[in-house]
Amino acid sequence: MPDPLLPLPPQAFHFVLGHETRALIRPVRASDVPYFVRGYSTLSAESRHLRFFSQAAELSAKQLAFFTQLDHVKHEAWGALDLREKEPVGIGVARYIGLMERPGVAEVALTIVDRYQNIRAGTLLHACLHLTASRHGYRTFVYDVLLDNQKFLRYLKALGGRVVGSESNVATLEMPVYARGRDVPVENGTALRFAQLMNDVMIAPPVAV
Ligand SMILES: CC(C)(COP(=O)(O)OP(=O)(O)OC[C@H]1O[C@@H](n2cnc3c(N)ncnc32)[C@H](O)[C@@H]1OP(=O)(O)O)[C@@H](O)C(=O)NCCC(=O)NCCS
Repeated sequence: MPDPLLPLPPQAFHFVLGHETRALIRPVRASDVPYFVRGYSTLSAESRHLRFFSQAAELSAKQLAFFTQLDHVKHEAWGALDLREKEPVGIGVARYIGLMERPGVAEVALTIVDRYQNIRAGTLLHACLHLTASRHGYRTFVYDVLLDNQKFLRYLKALGGRVVGSESNVATLEMPVYARGRDVPVENGTALRFAQLMNDVMIAPPVAV
């Protein structure tokens, strides 16, 4: 059930990531296709493999439509744009897709363009996903992660994710959807940073875009 008592996070806000990267953070729109095309073209073969389990040269028209035409409830994605350039540049995207067969459960995927990795963009967008999904009634996030992706597996476990299955080279993890920073079990630095970012998002001044 949606939780009407919890306010949604600001629907667009500015945030300074690592390396002084001034970014615009907001849900993805249908007009964002060019950012996806350019972002994918600069994604390394390794990142393509880790996110898409494939190394296709480009995203198909069908994929581009699917990734950008969202209902913002059952399918939501948050994106970050680098505002330091003359034209904004796509930094990355985090999305959840509700599972038809499991009400209250959604599958999550994150992609940060290689040159923007390790500056907390992934954590920030992931925090936005939790804040949004909790308000739309989701209680559990599911992540399919290649076993090669050890850093990301460690990251999810540090946030309370637990492995619920594995098939060939993919592990499936589940994590509660956190509605507020204080709901995150803060047992390590990763969880502390995540909880702090959730709090930062909720108090970020909204911008009109
Ligand atoms: C995994 C990924 C989303 C992390 O996003 P990011 O913005 O680079 O990560 P952050 O800077 O927010 O750091 C988050 C944590 O992830 C870890 N991490 C950083 N870079 C990473 C990388 N290249 N791969 C995996 N984990 C990474 C960090 O150690 C950090 O943990 P900490 O808080 O304990 O320091 C990003 O590196 C990526 O898109 N990789 C390729 C695609 C992929 O693996 N997607 C996940 C499967 S759906």
